[in-house]
Amino acid sequence: MNPLPEKIVCIGAGYVGGPTMAVIAERCPAVGVTVLDHDAGRIAAWNSDRLPVFEPGLAEIVGRARGRNLWFVEQRAGLAALAEADVIFISVQTPTKTEGEGAGKASDLRYVEACARFIAEHARGHTIVVEKSTMPVRAAERIQQVLAANATGATFTVLSNPEFLAEGTAIRDLLQPDRVLIGGEDAAAVGSLRSLYATWVPPERILTTGLWSAELSKLAANAFLAQRVSSINSLSALCERTGAEIGEVAAVVGTDSRIGPKFLKASVGFGGSCFRKDLLSLVYLCEHHGLPEVAAYWQQVVDLNEWQKRRVAAEVAAAAKNRRVAVLGLAFKKDTNDFRESAALQVVRSLLRSGCEVVAYDPRVEGARFASELGDATGFTVAASARQALAGVGAVAVLTEWEEFATLPWASVGVAAGATVFDGRGIVDRAAVRQAGLGLRVIGSPAG
Ligand SMILES: NC(=O)c1ccc[n+]([C@@H]2O[C@H](COP(=O)([O-])OP(=O)(O)OC[C@H]3O[C@@H](n4cnc5c(N)ncnc54)[C@H](O)[C@@H]3O)[C@@H](O)[C@H]2O)c1
Repeated sequence: MNPLPEKIVCIGAGYVGGPTMAVIAERCPAVGVTVLDHDAGRIAAWNSDRLPVFEPGLAEIVGRARGRNLWFVEQRAGLAALAEADVIFISVQTPTKTEGEGAGKASDLRYVEACARFIAEHARGHTIVVEKSTMPVRAAERIQQVLAANATGATFTVLSNPEFLAEGTAIRDLLQPDRVLIGGEDAAAVGSLRSLYATWVPPERILTTGLWSAELSKLAANAFLAQRVSSINSLSALCERTGAEIGEVAAVVGTDSRIGPKFLKASVGFGGSCFRKDLLSLVYLCEHHGLPEVAAYWQQVVDLNEWQKRRVAAEVAAAAKNRRVAVLGLAFKKDTNDFRESAALQVVRSLLRSGCEVVAYDPRVEGARFASELGDATGFTVAASARQALAGVGAVAVLTEWEEFATLPWASVGVAAGATVFDGRGIVDRAAVRQAGLGLRVIGSPAG
């Protein structure tokens, strides 16, 4: 068994870096864990009672470890921690490139490369550098080059350790992962990282592979998950036309043990910061390596998702006779405050463009941040409760599966007479909507 690293650093205090390091610190009290970010506001929030990330169970874990062996530090104040670190995780964003070669598809590695330069300047001795961010396959090569070109005497081993947590269940996923994946060729470095996870993860769940397989496995896993969503959503549209019911179809399909029941819920489309960009990254890699048929196959998963969001938005806009619409749910899924790439962003934009007024409610998303992401938010307001959002509206779009939306007392919420409820998640109480005399449209269910 390799000895535990004594000191680790993570660059990037976001949705992955924050929760992952909090769990490592909580599970490994002997390891000092410093999380750096150049966003001073984010660091201040991690050091406050209002954490920048909402995840069930996260605040309790941070509360137990912060100040003991877990520190959130503004980047420039973290140079000593970097110099002393045995292991440095890179957990910064890898968004889709917006300019240059591969724009619109390839991953933008500039944040990762900035980290590599920073590490090369400040690390001392031999340091293990871990790709925690999701990377295109062979990105480690680039990191190694940047480290080597900028190093001042220090030496490095690069490992890939992609993160598989899902927002909304991040703490459970980190505490009881299906698997932890470590890719690399340096057995001692792999062993050192393995020893960290082995503190709480059963050994058979810690998988080791070559570097390139680890990088590609993360993209592949997200592509498979997104593909299931697009597959069921494609059939949701056919159900609406034929009288079949998507919930029944999904239940039957999911009983096949080769297919399994998870991730077969029809919805207004997948969102979140990862699926779209990781699929596009895969598409770009396939094109780059001369595989246009494979690229087209995965591109279709993205295209279907965009189509699903567009068709929902058009239907909601058409249903809102008085041009006033309540949007319930801005987060891309329940139990997170993250609205990156959420269906709500596209549906709200489309409703505003079609001249509707939109009043939105989400229990966790800060309305002001969502409004600023919209850009032109004229006609968009945020309510403090679902009831307040629903007053007088002619249409309702339920876009996030928060439990409170499943139990709304539709007869007494004050929507306009004749309003239509559009359930983009298949969660509303259909009997209550019908008893209230309201129109109802459920994704994947025949109209009427
Ligand atoms: N969010 C998820 O559910 C999830 C799950 C698995 C993997 N991932 C991957 O993990 C990576 C991080 O995702 P995230 O959602 O945590 O992103 P995020 O945007 O929430 O966090 C990234 C953080 O890195 C900081 N940062 C960027 N460049 C920096 C630099 N040079 N120095 C210091 N700090 C810097 C940013 O200020 C930000 O706080 C991405 O590659 C993503 O694909 C995300």
